Formats: sequence, structure tokens, C-alpha cells
Amino acid sequence: MFAIAARRMGYRVHTFSPGNDTPTGQVADVEINASYHDLEAVRQFAKGVSVVTFEFENVPAATAEAASEYAPVRPDGLILHTTQHRLREKTFLAKNGLPVTPFRPIHCLEDLRAAVKELGYPAVLKTAGFGYDGKGQVKISSVEQAESAFGSVPLQEMVLEAFVDFQSEVSVVAARDLNGVFAHWGVIENRHCNHILDISIAPADVSSKVYDQAIKITRTVLEKLNVVGLLCVEFFLTQGGDLLINELAPRPHNSGHFTFDACVTSQFEQQLRAVCGLPLGSTQLLRPAAMANLLGDLWQNGEPNWSAACAYPEVKLHLYGKPIPNPGRKMGHLTALAHSAQSASEIVRAARAALLVEQ
Ligand SMILES: Nc1ncnc2c1ncn2[C@@H]1O[C@H](COP(=O)(O)OP(=O)(O)O)[C@@H](O)[C@H]1O
Ligand SMILES: [Mg+2]
Repeated sequence: MFAIAARRMGYRVHTFSPGNDTPTGQVADVEINASYHDLEAVRQFAKGVSVVTFEFENVPAATAEAASEYAPVRPDGLILHTTQHRLREKTFLAKNGLPVTPFRPIHCLEDLRAAVKELGYPAVLKTAGFGYDGKGQVKISSVEQAESAFGSVPLQEMVLEAFVDFQSEVSVVAARDLNGVFAHWGVIENRHCNHILDISIAPADVSSKVYDQAIKITRTVLEKLNVVGLLCVEFFLTQGGDLLINELAPRPHNSGHFTFDACVTSQFEQQLRAVCGLPLGSTQLLRPAAMANLLGDLWQNGEPNWSAACAYPEVKLHLYGKPIPNPGRKMGHLTALAHSAQSASEIVRAARAALLVEQ
């Protein structure tokens, strides 16, 4: 989606990843297929471009550093380093006085025993690195469960978090340009299913106090990290009406995919503008919108019924071009536009359900 936005504005796109025929590669002018650890290949790649950005935060810090020898990397590799590791990220947030889910670092079984005593049950045990879409985390409600979960991944650094009984989950996707100008798309409401984002709704139905607080926190995060590019803050809104930061993503975010169809400037075009040194575009929401993810599970009984979803005239279909529809894999999404966020959410669900209607 970034490559599409870039091509539309006349840029040539080169992509580097360990994969072949990737969604970006299908749109890009040049697709380099090499390991992130092949730093010579990374340097060669960086020599051929004017600026480097990323859409995946598990790019190793050394890779970003090698690229930065030949082209500016935006956001900076240090931001990747902080946000790709839950402990570093949470420590950074706590140090800056930002509200974060109560957590404890876990390096061994003793740490875990002590941490559950302090945080109580239920709690969520997460690997410090390489988690996404709920992978690498488990909700625990007993020491035995904790020990068996921990036993299955004994060599990794982990984080124990208090389980937050939230009233809702919300996010703010924001951008910051080379001159420090800040822009955001407001507060987005997110519903998860099996720890994977299922539906995003914009605008979120939150009080102006929560709205202002969410934007203020997000702005502080982008400024403290000195982000040039995009960053998403995922929040829990507690039963008491407080915001706690769940995690950060220094890139376009799934909860901001609706901006492609519903806003004057999409998150992808904004990333492009920010990293290429252009002024930011308007983030105005043209119409209330809802986005529904399309997971590989939808392919269980063969090709989904695309025609049935496209029969909803205000629903837009996005398929990423990933070859194998594994269960839980994000293959695409639908966006619905309507007169209200609630109505958009109903339409997008109906359109997704229609994908399973027999053709
Ligand atoms: N401490 C927690 N309390 C309550 N729910 C949680 C907690 N941690 C994770 N979750 C649920 O799991 C989802 C995914 O967790 P997250 O930490 O964002 O990992 P990922 O990197 O996989 O997105 C969250 O959006 C939320 O729905
Ligand atoms: Mg998340």
C-alpha cells in the first residue's frame, strides 16, 4: 500500500526483504531478495535509493545502521531498536512518564514467580521480541500454567503484564515530518479476535477528554522518539476511563488502513511525504469508516465470494497478493464508508460475511 501511494506520486520504489514475490515486490520497480543479515546486500541496496523506510519493525538494528551509511533511514534505526523489543519499549515509555500497562521483566523462572505475586492473576506473558498478531503471548491464571508456558520458551527474554480488563481498545496513528510538524487521524476503535485485530472503526466513540489525552500522549511519544515518518500507539481504555499504552508500531498500522479510502491523505501517502521531506497532507476524514480484516481462514472452503462483498457499493476490497491463505494470516481487508461509524461497522461485517455465501 505504501508502494502504491509512492508510485501514484511518481516515485520509483525499491524493496528489500527475505521474501520473493512479496506484496510490495509486486508493485515495486525493484525487488531485492536477501537476508536482513546480509549487510553487504543491504549496503548495495541503500546505494541505489534516496531514502530508506520500513513497514515491518523486526528489521534488525544492524541492518538499519548499514543502510544509513548510504541513505537516510526514516524513522531512525534507533526507533526500530526501541520498539521491536517490548521491554525496551515499555521502559522507554515509563521513563518518560507515559502511562503503560503494569509490567515486569522476566529472565528466569524466579522472576516469573515474583512477578505474578506482584501483578496478580490473570496476567499476560509475552516474548520480548518478535511478537505480532498475538504470536508469542499467553494469558495465564496459575503458576503451573505460567511455568508450562514459560518452559516452552525458556531461552528468551520475556515480559509479564497485568491483564487489563479494558472497556475498549483504541489507537492513534500519527505522522511527523522533518520539521517536527505533527499530524494524526484522530482516535480509532479496535476490536480484536483471538488477539488479532478484527475490526477498526473511525471515529472512535470516546469522550473529548479521552480523545485529547490520547492525542497528547501520542504526540509526546513521536516527539520523544524524534520520529520522522509514522507511528501508531495502541491503547487500552480502562473501565475507569484511563488510557494505558499497550504497544507502539513505528510504521503504517493495520488500524489505519481505512485512511486509504476514507481520508484526504492516507497513512501510506503520509509516510511517503514525511520520509521524502514533503509537507504533510490533510488527515481529514471524508466519511465515517470501518475496516474488517480478511484472514486466511476465509479461504477454508475455497475462494471467497468476492462478487458478494463487492455488491455493497460503499465497500472497498483490498487484497495484498500473499500467496498462501494460512489460518490467522492477514490476506487483505474491506473498508466500508457510511453516514456513521456504527453503520460503517455493520456494513463491513455484512460484506465480510457475504464472502462465505456460496457462489
Ligand atoms: N495485558 C493485556 N491485557 C488485556 N489484553 C491484552 C493484554 N495484552 C494483550 N492483550 C490482547 O491481545 C492483543 C494483542 O496483543 P499485543 O500486545 O498488541 O501484541 P501484538 O504484537 O501481537 O499485536 C491486544 O490488542 C489485546 O486485545
Ligand atoms: Mg498489538
